Amino acid sequence: MKKLLLLSLLTAVGGGCLLTGCSKKEEDKSGGPAKGKEKVFVMVPKGVHPYYEPCYEGFKDAAAKYGVKAEYRAAKAFEVPQEVEVIENVIARHVDGIAISALDDQGLVPVIAEASKAGIKVITFDAPAPSSAALTYIGTMNEAAGYAGAEQLIKVINGEGEVAVLQGGLGAPNLNDRYKGFERCLKEKAPNVKIVAREDEQGKIDMTVNKTEALLQAHPNLKAIFGVSAEVCPGAAAALKQQGKAGKIVLAGFDDLPDTLAGIRSGVVNFCIAQRTYKMGWLSVEKLLEAMDGKSLPKEIDTGVLIITKDNVDTYMQDMKKEFAK
Ligand code: BGC
Repeated sequence: MKKLLLLSLLTAVGGGCLLTGCSKKEEDKSGGPAKGKEKVFVMVPKGVHPYYEPCYEGFKDAAAKYGVKAEYRAAKAFEVPQEVEVIENVIARHVDGIAISALDDQGLVPVIAEASKAGIKVITFDAPAPSSAALTYIGTMNEAAGYAGAEQLIKVINGEGEVAVLQGGLGAPNLNDRYKGFERCLKEKAPNVKIVAREDEQGKIDMTVNKTEALLQAHPNLKAIFGVSAEVCPGAAAALKQQGKAGKIVLAGFDDLPDTLAGIRSGVVNFCIAQRTYKMGWLSVEKLLEAMDGKSLPKEIDTGVLIITKDNVDTYMQDMKKEFAK
């Protein structure tokens, strides 16, 4: 039973690749080859993960609008050398622009410098690499979003109790900034809330399930679990259900994957912080085009977040999409 549940989760969250092992080294969702002098922009996420699907939707839709060829290249795992290799392969093909969700800051500095030297415009979306030569960062202001997540959690747990944090990789500045904001808010506003654990689940749903089970064992008084990455709510929700603790331990965190939204509807997830993923993808194309036109870009572009609870879970998506009504 436990195995079956995990298998269906893996297929849902990992797009099947984790289970079957994709034959290719990279995931590619792109269309056919570029025509003539058509510009080619490539999206490179941290790795294969359903979180990036709406990002690429926005990227593809904007590319279609502006007559650019969109491509998608994802490493199989969230590992810095793999992301570097994917970017190196893209550089070798002399594309025009690359939009990267950075798994690491320092680790990507050389390859981003190499791309810039080759005349390729590079920006980051979703996760910045502040030390790199990327022209801008398009996405969530992560420290502030982590702070907002803690403010909401404090209300839900009445300002006291033990909290555990799960994070998908400890190297990315976007996730570390979220954690920093989360921690700062608790210190400032709820000294009776204690962070008793911060665990790395490497962006993997199966590891999230295991880590949650271990947390429940190690911390019998745990009041809440907060996820700073997209796979936490689906993974922890599955573990809480298996242990008969759904709704008894507060679960909340980043992103609006379908299983997280289902969890909000059923009560196993209390709230989530939805990032504007479609907008990140869309703006990535527009900013790469501006860079190609010689325009200078701001250091960062805030796409904003939205807190989703039972009250707006069925309406927020339509509201967000209005901005891009065609
Ligand atoms: C983050 C991404 C990350 C994803 C999956 C999201 O919250 O913004 O950077 O890749 O979670 O872990």
